[in-house]
Amino acid sequence: MIADSFGRVHDYLRISLTDNCNFRCFYCMPEEDYDFTPAARLMQPDEILSLAKLFVAQGVKKIRLTGGEPLVRKDAAEIITNLGKLPVELVITTNGTRIAELLPTLKAAGIKSINISLDTLQPEKFMLITRRDLFHQVRSNIELLLQHKFTVKINMVVMKGLNDDEIKDFIDWTKHHPLQIRFIEFMPFSGNRWTSNKMFSLAEILQVIEKDFTVLPVKAEPHDTAKSFMIPGHEGSFAIISTMTAPFCDTCNRMRLTADGKLKNCLFSDGETDLLTALRNNEEVLPLIHASILSKKKELGGQLGKHFEQIDTATLQNRSMITIGG
Ligand code: GTP
Ligand code: 5AD
Ligand code: SF4
Repeated sequence: MIADSFGRVHDYLRISLTDNCNFRCFYCMPEEDYDFTPAARLMQPDEILSLAKLFVAQGVKKIRLTGGEPLVRKDAAEIITNLGKLPVELVITTNGTRIAELLPTLKAAGIKSINISLDTLQPEKFMLITRRDLFHQVRSNIELLLQHKFTVKINMVVMKGLNDDEIKDFIDWTKHHPLQIRFIEFMPFSGNRWTSNKMFSLAEILQVIEKDFTVLPVKAEPHDTAKSFMIPGHEGSFAIISTMTAPFCDTCNRMRLTADGKLKNCLFSDGETDLLTALRNNEEVLPLIHASILSKKKELGGQLGKHFEQIDTATLQNRSMITIGG
């Protein structure tokens, strides 16, 4: 079992497969030209499997593959197939562009639930946010996943003045589609142009939705990051991830492995523990994992705190989102 000093048991591992991505979303990566990690420094498929096995032996029950964009890795199919053989729930967060070609692999690996990042339903705005013209490809891949009976959650980062006017459109989408839309409060990371006045809060999101719909709360699962709601008569549902105005750290069960094999004990932690180098040097990895989690802070990596108005992303000591994977 892996537990921290507050007694929180950690049984959910998020593995980033690459910091590379075929999109260029400004809120996820620094503005300047970003150098992706060279292939030799990335965990190789056998190394990912070895590390994952160690975590599973310590009680990890769920593994989420993230990125950058996990499915741009050339050996993504091999990695997914390997991990699919472990006794864990395997899930993935993706931008949705490479779903069609990898569908047989995802199914064969026993993946049942996929989270797709999609911040707008307008093709031109999609282009503005991602700097790529792939909106229709993502939309058709979402349809494909629904046809194949996957559980699909849509991650929509709400940014004031950019896409907060689309909240109702996303809710309308759930009327006849069994999707869960997750509205996410915009979070600050090094170099991501976050400012507190671009944030659209849990309270504001609910207020907008309640203007047009009857909203009923749904009981949360024990380690949910999202507060869930339903609207009578809608096939789908929605949820809100309120890291900034209502953090959920007291039930946190998450650990993160970056694509270069560093363990982060929190999304906002400034320190990291190099598991890959230890593995490559034949050193013991398990004590490093336990020590890292034991040093985990109570809330938000001990960095953000309640007064988020004062956060300056220029001085924030965290990696950019693209290297953590959310
Ligand atoms: P489920 O496993 O389906 O609950 O998904 P998830 O919400 O954990 O993962 P996903 O990759 O879809 O991330 C959705 C949003 O939640 C992103 O903005 C993540 O950064 C954020 N998120 C995921 N895990 C954590 C966490 O432990 N803490 C915080 N504060 N945010 C998180
Ligand atoms: N704030 C909130 N969510 C973010 N994501 C990426 N950057 C941010 C941010 N700054 C989300 C993406 C993706 C998930 C892994 O993290 O939408 O779905
Ligand atoms: Fe866990 Fe850190 Fe996320 Fe809080 S911010 S839920 S402690 S990973």
